Amino acid sequence: MSVVAQTRRLTAIDIGSRKGGTPIVSLTAYHAHTAAIMDQYVDFMLVGDSLGMVMHGLETTVPVTLDMMILQGQAVMRGSNRALVVVDMPFGSYEESPQAAFRSAARIMKETGCGAIKMEGGVHMAETVRFLTRRGIPVMGHIGLTPQSINTMGGFKVQGKSDESAAAVLADAQAIAEAGAFAMVVEGVIDTVAREITARVSVPTIGIGASSDCDGQILVLEDMLGLSPRVPKFVKKFGNLGALIEESVAAYADAVKSRAFPGPENTYTKKV
Ligand code: KIV
Repeated sequence: MSVVAQTRRLTAIDIGSRKGGTPIVSLTAYHAHTAAIMDQYVDFMLVGDSLGMVMHGLETTVPVTLDMMILQGQAVMRGSNRALVVVDMPFGSYEESPQAAFRSAARIMKETGCGAIKMEGGVHMAETVRFLTRRGIPVMGHIGLTPQSINTMGGFKVQGKSDESAAAVLADAQAIAEAGAFAMVVEGVIDTVAREITARVSVPTIGIGASSDCDGQILVLEDMLGLSPRVPKFVKKFGNLGALIEESVAAYADAVKSRAFPGPENTYTKKV
């Protein structure tokens, strides 16, 4: 038996039980070392398909593959041991049928060891959410602005502006909560509508560009660190890593060019 105290990783059940409690803190993560830094501060990390934009410079999340998600999910699991890790199901890996979704989700969970998956969609995905949760896969929903549907939505558009749109988002939220999702991301939804959803559904809502009244918040790590070249209006930059990286790289380039690097402290010498 090990005498070393093990950290217990938070589970989907832990997050699901936080409805109406202390706000749930979450960020995206794609990388082992940043996951290690964030681990003690966040309740869950999302290996989001936004990695397509953040890590690969893609314009949308549509080209992201299951293999890309699994590789980054493994890195984030290696870097963390406390926060729940949720891995996004990429476009094309789950929409066709509940069975196809189960196969993709099972692969993600087996190959990464993560504690839950996330999928976009409301009323039309409720059957799939039910199919997965009844077969041992914790599902986080994602409603409102669903970036994988950009080609049918006609752009990244805020949801819930009209009465009709507000009713549709609310119906989506209720459908996936009733189907068994343990929590749901509410993205790009008018503040009052996000508040109403939070009041009406029994599971935690995680807002992004939604409302401070959601049960938790999520941001893309690189956006809030000031590393992304373009960010949506709702992002607050809590750091300025882009400028820091540029400054450090410029200092390194100067040091190399002036032969100030490597100095004696950075070289190996043979002892005589
Ligand atoms: O992929 C992602 O990063 C996301 C968050 C924006 C919620 O889905």
